[in-house]
Amino acid sequence: MNIEIKHIAFGGAEHKKEIELRYKVLRQPLGLNYMQEQLKAEKDEFHFAAFDGDKLVGCLLMKAIGNDEIKMRQVAVDEDDQGKGVGKSLVLFSEKFAAENGFSHITLHARKTAVPFYEKLGYKIVGNEFTEVTLPHFKMKKEKPFV
Ligand SMILES: CC(C)(COP(=O)(O)OP(=O)(O)OC[C@H]1O[C@@H](n2cnc3c(N)ncnc32)[C@H](O)[C@@H]1OP(=O)(O)O)[C@@H](O)C(=O)NCCC(=O)NCCS
Repeated sequence: MNIEIKHIAFGGAEHKKEIELRYKVLRQPLGLNYMQEQLKAEKDEFHFAAFDGDKLVGCLLMKAIGNDEIKMRQVAVDEDDQGKGVGKSLVLFSEKFAAENGFSHITLHARKTAVPFYEKLGYKIVGNEFTEVTLPHFKMKKEKPFV
């Protein structure tokens, strides 16, 4: 597997593939879908995707919350490609991006099942468990230097 991580443009063919993957991995199993307004509101976010050749195998979004904080969102890897380092590569790429753009901390809402994945990458739980998209979640945080 030869993985390439790219910053992808909003509204193009790669963005369409990103939404398809997010639906398949993060929404369809819960019987949920994305609202068009939600997707349109992501125009100002940073979209990163992992490619194995032409196949988009993973994605990650980053949303600036202020000058210091950037939120990591919608981390998803195709089921066939999980456990091969794609998620980790996406997180490391986005951390480099956050550092280069002057952000001092990264926050995220982790599904409880994904908490150990983020812990391995240095993220710490902040606060109590809460529910989002019907699932238990924890807020997590990492301060710079990220890598
Ligand atoms: C969670 C997810 C993004 C991880 O991506 P991935 O490509 O499968 O993970 P990687 O192969 O890069 O794993 C990196 C490390 O984390 C570990 N890891 C990955 N997922 C894990 C999990 N759910 N629980 C415990 N450890 C996990 C791996 O074993 C690996 O450990 P190592 O470095 O010691 O070998 C991916 O499995 C996924 O999309 N899951 C379904 C959707 C989801 O839960 N998204 C996150 C929403 S917050």
